[in-house]
Amino acid sequence: MSDVHSDAFVFFGATGDLAYKKIFPALQAMVKRGHLDVPVIGVAKAGWNLEQLEARAKDSLDKHGGLDPAAFSKLRGLLRYVDGDYQDPATFQAIRRELGPARRPAHYLAIPPVMFELVVEQLGKADCTNGARVIVEKPFGHDLASARELNRVLLGAFDETSIFRIDHYLGKRPVHHLLFFRFANAFLEPFWNRNHVDSVQITMAEDFGIQGRGAFYDGTGTVRDVVQNHLFQVLSNLAMEPPVRTDSKSIRDEKVKVLKAISSFSADDIVRGQFRGYRSEKDVAPDSTVETFVALRLQIDSWRWQGVPFYIRAGKCLAVTCTEVVVRLRQPPTMYHGFDLEPNYCRFRISPDITIAIGANVIAPGQETQSQTAEMLGTRLPRADEMDAYERVLGDAMHGDATLFAREDYVEEAWRIVDPVLKDGTPVYEYERGTWGPKEVDSRVSPPGGWQNPTVKVP
Ligand code: BG6
Repeated sequence: MSDVHSDAFVFFGATGDLAYKKIFPALQAMVKRGHLDVPVIGVAKAGWNLEQLEARAKDSLDKHGGLDPAAFSKLRGLLRYVDGDYQDPATFQAIRRELGPARRPAHYLAIPPVMFELVVEQLGKADCTNGARVIVEKPFGHDLASARELNRVLLGAFDETSIFRIDHYLGKRPVHHLLFFRFANAFLEPFWNRNHVDSVQITMAEDFGIQGRGAFYDGTGTVRDVVQNHLFQVLSNLAMEPPVRTDSKSIRDEKVKVLKAISSFSADDIVRGQFRGYRSEKDVAPDSTVETFVALRLQIDSWRWQGVPFYIRAGKCLAVTCTEVVVRLRQPPTMYHGFDLEPNYCRFRISPDITIAIGANVIAPGQETQSQTAEMLGTRLPRADEMDAYERVLGDAMHGDATLFAREDYVEEAWRIVDPVLKDGTPVYEYERGTWGPKEVDSRVSPPGGWQNPTVKVP
């Protein structure tokens, strides 16, 4: 059944934040492209009716990406609503009734993971799991033990090929482009290894704070929110070996090997930070030690990468909003003594624009003995009609293509790497909003030659 299209889409948490910001826009886009033509059943416990859910969907589209009258009208025609408690078997019997003849529904659990077990169990009892798929959101668990427990719960009702663990970063085109650019261009292959690469740095900076998500964020922190999932996926695309085939198993096998080659890191390899004022945010503990910034160093102990340091940095309330990778190359021997040569590098920007740049030394204009870095640059803004990450991953899940989803073994390896240091707890240093994090980063966790801070031009 792996490539059979789902014949209904059920989403739990239909009145929640994720549905409002991401799911309705993705559903409208799927309808518009002709990719969605099955019943869409929202489920929540809000005391609402279908009209209220429709109004919420309309409002969501007005605020997030724009309402397309024709596509919205079609989406409305597909939309159903079940209101009820997840403890109550009647809720699931109502879902079964709404599913009608559908035998291969996709159930999207856009709800807190603590509810997964209950919902999955109730779905099973109401005869909604046979032939079905389940789609779950990150963070997948809170640590290795809870991720294993969640896997146990899901695997009790669905087999691994029917479980889709969303990491929307995998649905972003430029993240996929990293792989394409590496493996489609012969000029990269000879130097994409420890013989030529000096260091790799990945920055995910956001200039905004936690946007009212205090309750979620204060139980999560930056490592669990974006490093263990989104940025490890970027890292895997940068570091994996070429897969023997392009099917989802072959690709995911190579990704998991990257994580297997990474040891758990120690307290010396991480600096955690918290922006000033975080503890006064709504739903945040006044003495919280949760990080809103992290910089960390890790090693991939493989034949290709041994000895090359990889750095990851992410945070809220930083100087700009930008996700970027810089791969620095080793310096060649030089006959140009007196020139201040910089290492060559490849720069991949994932957002807000999509950039691939190569930094090289050239003689500075008008100078005889000075060098400057010139970038060979390919850049463009994402087009409005491009598939958003959520549209892509939801469409793939309904189609049964697992390539862009995290597999059980991958998720567990990712937790294995970050778990010990999260459990130990390391100091959290305060930083000012609008900066690049705490000053301790530069002395403790900084790539050779320093961090390259992205600059973002306001269009
Ligand atoms: C989410 C995190 O998974 O990804 C957020 O929970 C983060 O904290 C977001 O802001 C970033 O994703 P994007 O697609 O907006 O860059």
